Formats: sequence, structure tokens, C-alpha cells
Amino acid sequence: MLRSLSIWFGVMGLFLLRDNCFSLDNFKTVEFNRDIRPILSDKCFSCHGPDANHRKANLRFDMRQGALSDLGGYAAVVPGSPEKSELISRIHTSKSSDELMPPLKSGKQLSETEKQLLKDWISQGAEYEEHWAYIQLQRPPIPKVMKSSWPTGAIDRFVMARLEHENVFPSKEADAGTLIRRLHIDLTGMPPPQI
Ligand code: HEC
Repeated sequence: MLRSLSIWFGVMGLFLLRDNCFSLDNFKTVEFNRDIRPILSDKCFSCHGPDANHRKANLRFDMRQGALSDLGGYAAVVPGSPEKSELISRIHTSKSSDELMPPLKSGKQLSETEKQLLKDWISQGAEYEEHWAYIQLQRPPIPKVMKSSWPTGAIDRFVMARLEHENVFPSKEADAGTLIRRLHIDLTGMPPPQI
């Protein structure tokens, strides 16, 4: 129980860290729902999203058809060709340029990681995915790991595979007192009372 909870927190932690370490073999393929939708939704949809009343430049990124549409001899997204995609040139222009997207005055900014993800996504064909809630769950193959003595179950193997990618290795399992103390801090934000 404690072990699975600490694994759960560990996995959550790794997802939070992902911004810094996405360029791993398992994670190299850009996935629209995981990597791209959150960027477009946070940084672009307010002006290029589903809301027609707030849509700018008659351009929408919530649908592939919109992203690929002809803007008069060019397109925001040209699958496979980031260098031909207006989206890429607009996110890379200088901060002082009126062309910069998202516009400076919107207060939104893309990180270098986000810019790279958008570029990789377009290079890889700019595929869209339905909202995850409508996609049938698929069981992924259980990854192979080098340190096969550590995992005790399938979920551990996912954790271990990711750790090995990061070149991080699990510490020895802590004693029960330390685990319960960590759990208490995780759940309540406070150390447990002294007994
Ligand atoms: C605050 C509103 C706003 C946000 C947020 C915003 N844009 Fe724009 N965008 C505009 C406006 C206004 C225009 C039209 C003026 C222009 O071409 O610069 C535009 C134009 C564009 C164009 C050129 C369209 C054409 O017809 O040539 C692209 C490409 C674009 N935006 C991409 C993006 C991307 C990608 C994001 C998010 C990373 C984004 N925009 C976020 C307001 C916004």
C-alpha cells in the first residue's frame, strides 16, 4: 500500500518534471493530446479556438482542417514541413515584432520546450487526436528494464523504465517509519505528531 502510494506520487512527480526532460526515446513521438493540445489550449485558443466571437484572423487550431486551411497561398500548419508553416515562423519572430504569436500584449509566452514540441509535431505530420475521453483505452506494452530485480509489478516497470531513461535509480526502500512520515506530509502537508 505504502509502496504503491509512493510510486503513485513518484509518477506524478515525473509528469510534473516532464517539461524539462521530454526528449526521451519513449516520449519522442509527439502525441497531440499529451503534448500539443495543452499548449494550443493555453496559448492560442483564446484567439484561435472554438469561440467564433473571439476568433482572430479567421484561424482556428482546435480542428486540423482549420490549422491546415489555405490562408492565401500559405498555411499555418503544413504537415511534415515546419519551415513552410506560418505557425512556426510566427512563434519564432522577435519579441519586438507585431508578427509574434502569441502577441506580446496577450501576456502569454511559449517556452523553448513548447516551441520545440510544436515543431516536432508538425515534422511528424501534425496529427490531431480526438479528445482523450472519446478514445478507447489501449493497453501499452510493458517496457523492458535493465534493473529487472526492482519492479514487483507491471506499473513498477513503467516507473523503472522512465527512471532508467533519466539515468536515475531508485534509492533503497526506506523503513516503515520514514514511509509513514512521508505519507503524512504528502497527505496533510504536516509532519505526523510525535508519539
Ligand atoms: C490575444 C490573441 C491572440 C493569441 C493568444 C494568439 N494569436 Fe495568433 N493572431 C492574432 C491576431 C489578431 C492575428 C492577426 C494579425 C496578424 O496576422 O498578426 C493572428 C494571426 C496569427 C497567424 C497568421 C494568420 C494569417 O492569416 O497569416 C498565425 C499563424 C497565428 N496567429 C498563430 C498563433 C499561434 C500558434 C498562437 C499560440 C501559440 C497564437 N496565434 C495566439 C491573435 C492572437
